Amino acid sequence: MVIIIFLFIVVSINIDPIQSEMPNPNNITGTWKLLQSSIGISAMHVQLLHTNQLVIFDRTDFGISNLSLATGTPCRNDPNDTAIKIDCSAHSLLYNIESNTLRPLDVQTDTWCSSGAVLPNGTMFQSGGFNDGEKVVRFYSPETKDSDWVEVPTYLKVRRWYATNQILPDGDVIIIGGRKAFSYEFFPTRIGNDGGLYEFAFLRDTNDVKDENNLYPFVHLLPDGKLYIFANTKGIIFDHNRNVVVRKLPSLPGEDPRNYPSTGSSVLLPLKLHKDGPRPSNPDKLPAEVLMCGGAPANSHQKARNGTFLKAVQTCGRLVVTDPNAKWEMETMPAPRVMSDMVILPTGDIIIINGAMAGTAGWELGREPMRTPVLYRPNSQPEQRFQELTSTEIPRMYHSTAVLDTYGRIIVGGSNPHVYYNFTQVLYPTELSLEAFYPPYMDWRFDNHRPYISLMGPGNVLTYGQHLWIQFEVIEYKTNEEPQVAIIAPSFTTHSQGMNQRMVLLAVDNVSFVGPSTYQIDTNVPKTPRIAPPGYYMLFVVHDGVPGMGTWIQIQKPS
Ligand SMILES: *[C@@H]1O[C@H](CO)[C@@H](O)[C@H](O)[C@H]1NC(C)=O
Ligand SMILES: *[C@@H]1O[C@H](CO)[C@@H](O)[C@H](O)[C@H]1NC(C)=O
Ligand SMILES: *[C@@H]1O[C@H](CO)[C@@H](O)[C@H](O)[C@H]1NC(C)=O
Ligand SMILES: *[C@@H]1O[C@H](CO)[C@@H](O)[C@H](O)[C@H]1NC(C)=O
Ligand SMILES: *[C@@H]1O[C@H](CO)[C@@H](O)[C@H](O)[C@H]1NC(C)=O
Ligand SMILES: *[C@@H]1O[C@H](CO)[C@@H](O)[C@H](O)[C@H]1NC(C)=O
Ligand SMILES: *[C@@H]1O[C@H](CO)[C@@H](O)[C@H](O)[C@H]1NC(C)=O
Repeated sequence: MVIIIFLFIVVSINIDPIQSEMPNPNNITGTWKLLQSSIGISAMHVQLLHTNQLVIFDRTDFGISNLSLATGTPCRNDPNDTAIKIDCSAHSLLYNIESNTLRPLDVQTDTWCSSGAVLPNGTMFQSGGFNDGEKVVRFYSPETKDSDWVEVPTYLKVRRWYATNQILPDGDVIIIGGRKAFSYEFFPTRIGNDGGLYEFAFLRDTNDVKDENNLYPFVHLLPDGKLYIFANTKGIIFDHNRNVVVRKLPSLPGEDPRNYPSTGSSVLLPLKLHKDGPRPSNPDKLPAEVLMCGGAPANSHQKARNGTFLKAVQTCGRLVVTDPNAKWEMETMPAPRVMSDMVILPTGDIIIINGAMAGTAGWELGREPMRTPVLYRPNSQPEQRFQELTSTEIPRMYHSTAVLDTYGRIIVGGSNPHVYYNFTQVLYPTELSLEAFYPPYMDWRFDNHRPYISLMGPGNVLTYGQHLWIQFEVIEYKTNEEPQVAIIAPSFTTHSQGMNQRMVLLAVDNVSFVGPSTYQIDTNVPKTPRIAPPGYYMLFVVHDGVPGMGTWIQIQKPS
């Protein structure tokens, strides 16, 4: 057996690469696996940490969850809780993706509809929520085996409920908007004219009187350090350091709102430093393009409250926001979709997953679960971009989530369109399950082309512009396409938003053969924190369109 494998490897590297029968990728549509039928809470907010653990939480005012607090943890005693005053159940937990095990965490104040980010040092930062939690910031550091939430009450200047966070080039976090919060602020607080609170008229202007449709605004950090902010149907380039709108961009054609409760989703498409992409000498000038998909027509929320569930929006729009003459390119998804998540895959493709085909976000307001994920290939010809993948059995409606892990899977959880945990006598029962979707590239038929990172230098802790080499092993090396190196920031995901989700394709300077089945890629860490803010990234090698397992790197904050 050993000899056969050895011969196989020798043949594969010395003679022409073996042309094995590769399946037609269009025939492979991915598989689902139920990881846990119940984790005890509904995965409304999820963040992957560099320890390969997911921090998951829902809200403290759902009532008693199906997960008890750890022995010795005092029960929560909150006279202001709207569901239950004394609660000995957990509303947060830590899930280990390697061992498929979990441990309850203890959160004291209400985290409902809050926002988050991972700080450059790997500690999770979370901000706001509802009621007694609306001005709280919280930290979770995974360093010790029994670490738990640390909460700082009344840190925020105003209530942040349905706000968006974005990590900035200096490692600070900007916290933007929220219900009736037409302002932004920073962590750590930046004292400005108004004691740390910055007025933001754009959010007032995009607020629909009845439905809002501008909560959880989409925020993407651009390569020049400015922010692209989109709310309702409008987008701007914003200089948060000077509180100035730099440029107004065209509204999304069709005038369908894309933000809560007409919830669609948005990603910054991968930033390309590799040689197929434009390589301006000034990295600030790197083009950046956003993709926005789904949502619900303007009066859907009112209609749904009255019992009429309008068809969701079926279009996606793409905009090169850095282009002075930016124009939306519109496309049509295979089906309408509201409340879907978009997850950037290591290949640079996007998965559109979860959600419904009618109604809106909000209690009891979604209908017609959309169980079929859709792959979107941004670099393919327009007619070849969308592909429907294998459906799940489980509806993932309001309050569901999806995140990428280092295996390259999508972890899917949550769905609770009810004010309480309701498992019976409702259309879409509260979901406590956790599933994994294995995208087509994880199929065993691609295993001969799958790269395994074997060695990396100078290490996993890196600085801006630093030379980085990566050795990987692969059974069959293909020469038709150069291997790629992608770094991906893990998102804080809630309400169809992947906050801080970001992929950068590094510049591959050289690929060389270094030994049996082993190749070395020479590359560099991005030059500026505007392209990749400091912190932890999953690094993936992608060979012949097949990613291997990701490994964590940390890009250190410039001193
Ligand atoms: C694979 O895909 C091709 C074209 O996309 C199709 O003609 C063929 O029938 C498929 N084969 C299987 C086994 O599904
Ligand atoms: C959660 O607990 C309730 C009450 O004990 C039970 O009826 C329900 O089946 C449990 N749900 C799940 C998904 O385990
Ligand atoms: C409950 O709410 C009241 C009114 O907002 C507040 O004064 C009080 O401090 C709250 N109590 C707790 C324990 O949070
Ligand atoms: C990371 O930084 C935050 C904010 O300064 C701090 O609260 C936290 O303790 C730090 N974590 C570690 C592990 O040092
Ligand atoms: C919903 O119903 C109310 C009460 O009948 C009515 O006033 C309102 O116009 C309706 N809204 C919509 C969007 O149909
Ligand atoms: C949902 O659960 C709450 C609390 O357990 C209960 O009061 C309510 O009647 C349930 N709703 C439905 C539709 O079953
Ligand atoms: C690529 O790597 C090989 C092997 O290390 C080396 O000989 C060659 O000079 C490198 N080429 C470039 C352009 O860096």
